[in-house]
Amino acid sequence: MRLAVIPGDGIGPEVVSEAIKVLGEVVPNAETTSYDLGASRWHSTGELLPESVLGELAEHDAILLGAVGDPSVPSGILERGLLLRLRFELDHHVNLRPGRLYPGVQGPLGDPGEIDMIVVREGTEGPYAGNGGLLRKDTEHEIATEVSLNTAFGIRRVVSDAFRRANERPRKHLTLVHKTNVLEYSGSLWSRIVEEVSLEYPEVSVAYSHVDAATIHMVTDPSRFDVIVTDNLFGDIITDLAAAVTGGIGLAASGNLDISGRNPSMFEPVHGSAPDIAGQNVADPTATVLSVSLLLDHLGEKEAARRIEASVAFDLATRDQASPGTTTAIGDRLAALVSSNAAPRPAL
Ligand code: NAD
Ligand code: IPM
Ligand code: MN
Repeated sequence: MRLAVIPGDGIGPEVVSEAIKVLGEVVPNAETTSYDLGASRWHSTGELLPESVLGELAEHDAILLGAVGDPSVPSGILERGLLLRLRFELDHHVNLRPGRLYPGVQGPLGDPGEIDMIVVREGTEGPYAGNGGLLRKDTEHEIATEVSLNTAFGIRRVVSDAFRRANERPRKHLTLVHKTNVLEYSGSLWSRIVEEVSLEYPEVSVAYSHVDAATIHMVTDPSRFDVIVTDNLFGDIITDLAAAVTGGIGLAASGNLDISGRNPSMFEPVHGSAPDIAGQNVADPTATVLSVSLLLDHLGEKEAARRIEASVAFDLATRDQASPGTTTAIGDRLAALVSSNAAPRPAL
């Protein structure tokens, strides 16, 4: 197994090194190559993602990324030039973001019941496509546009992926989240394609929620969600909220998948570089460890993936919620659990 690792900025390197520690316990022969990309490379060379590096990354089985973004770099330079460029170049059209409230985790909602959802966020289109510009620049009447790109091909492939996932889950329920009451053209294309693909999955029940209402439901009744399919920007926003209601951003994992398998998929925590806590050994590495579990699952290493998830579940059920420990202490605990195989299996 050949993995490319991009620790990145802020807490990225801190959480990634714990995740690699855990990985080493389940797949000791995994070969990892670290790529120095992010703020420090940009400062010293002006480079974001050289073509040669992109070519090398593409040769790996998968990529593990910490986070990018740094207050010393103008906002968006690293995010667009590195992270989004990787997602676009490697055709990461399915941005998979599970939101699960693990037993023992005290979220902010009191007693919300079971929360176990998967958000299938479109990853290469929407307003992220960079389709916009400025008119009448530097005048009183300057105009900024940001056109959301929605192709039938792009929608169909994520909607199909979401239905496949829903069909394999016990509840077999899929919710389209959009804003069809305002976004006339993209809204009707998404709705039509969901309707068309639903015919192939007669057992999957389908619901629709406007994105604003979805934020209400995410807080007042999150257990209603099973699989959510949505566009790139709505998916970005609701997955931070899903993370918040399932115990915090420090626990939320994600995978950027090229379902065709032509390019390596990339796994990363949902959170960013958290400059406010960087360098203090206080970031929770659990989201990155769970991202490694998603990575292994994607590469077909189901048993290894399950061992990591079971260890995280065990740790979450038994840790002191108020002070879960330092970044390295949590990493050490998870590595020990994974290696001793001590975590009880049926908990999942
Ligand atoms: P953020 O996710 O970095 O931080 C939001 C809040 O969550 C902060 O209070 C932070 O301390 C906390 N937090 C984040 N991760 C945590 C962890 N593992 N453990 C404990 N607390 C954690 O979001 P932001 O502050 O909006 O963005 C900071 C930078 O990261 C920006 O440059 C942004 O563009 C970038 N960013 C990058 C990614 C990515 O690389 N995938 C994702 C989101 C944001
Ligand atoms: C995320 C982040 C990114 C996004 C940013 C940093 C470009 O917020 O991975 O959720 O908007 O997708
Ligand atoms: Mn985000």
